[in-house]
Amino acid sequence: MKTRYALVTGSSSGLGLEMTQYLLEEGYVVFGASRSGTDIDHENFVDLDVDITKEESVQEMYDEIGKDTYGLHLIINNAGIYEMGPVVETESEVFSDHLLTNILGPFHILKYGHDFVIEEVTHVINLSSIAGKRGYENTSAYCASKFGLNGLIESCREEWKPLGVRFTTLMPGAVDTPLWDSLSDDLDREKMLDPEDFLHVFDMVVKSPNNMQFPDITFMHKSGYID
Ligand SMILES: NC(=O)c1ccc[n+]([C@@H]2O[C@H](COP(=O)([O-])OP(=O)(O)OC[C@H]3O[C@@H](n4cnc5c(N)ncnc54)[C@H](OP(=O)(O)O)[C@@H]3O)[C@@H](O)[C@H]2O)c1
Repeated sequence: MKTRYALVTGSSSGLGLEMTQYLLEEGYVVFGASRSGTDIDHENFVDLDVDITKEESVQEMYDEIGKDTYGLHLIINNAGIYEMGPVVETESEVFSDHLLTNILGPFHILKYGHDFVIEEVTHVINLSSIAGKRGYENTSAYCASKFGLNGLIESCREEWKPLGVRFTTLMPGAVDTPLWDSLSDDLDREKMLDPEDFLHVFDMVVKSPNNMQFPDITFMHKSGYID
């Protein structure tokens, strides 16, 4: 089979790590982008030290990818941050960090990823959140950033339509990953989706026929916890 190439941002933890391992098992060559890296030892895995908030870092990352391939079958905008706090107690820096990581980062990935688009083939998958559809208390920075991410993606989808690029925005409810570890002791993690549940949806999206796309998919634990 022809080699397929995927870029996964945020490959060092949580959903990014899960998607990376899944794609390696499916036979993809995976470029993993994060600041801390992973200890994945696989011949088809390329670990790249990238800070997606920094334009130059993303350009250097694509220079490295360009040494191996001219095109990406999958571009997965997954890296993100999440901190909680009421509006009046949220530091401006924390708020702007969310905009930098959760919107500007994906913008850099798309801006320079355009050179790696394979017409009628590339599929861009984005990790938004159910918090990109409605507000939650103590979540203003995160919600604002995910609402903004959705706008970026919708605009890019329109611009890249003539290239036949597919876009999917995933909007999960809570998934039990390290993202939650430092947020609160008062969480019922049994009522969150497992990463395997997430992969069930991801698998369906990745394997869907090339003539169809899911603009966005909302899914959550049946308990409705943090939905
Ligand atoms: N878990 C959930 O309940 C949930 C629900 C809905 C949506 N999501 C979204 O799913 C995505 C993944 O979440 P997760 O739960 O897997 O979180 P996680 O375990 O905290 O992982 C976040 C990843 O993002 C990377 N990252 C953060 N800032 C970065 C930067 N400046 N440059 C490069 N990489 C950066 C981190 O790598 P380094 O720190 O090594 O750079 C890490 O690999 C996020 O966009 C999140 O908003 C999660």
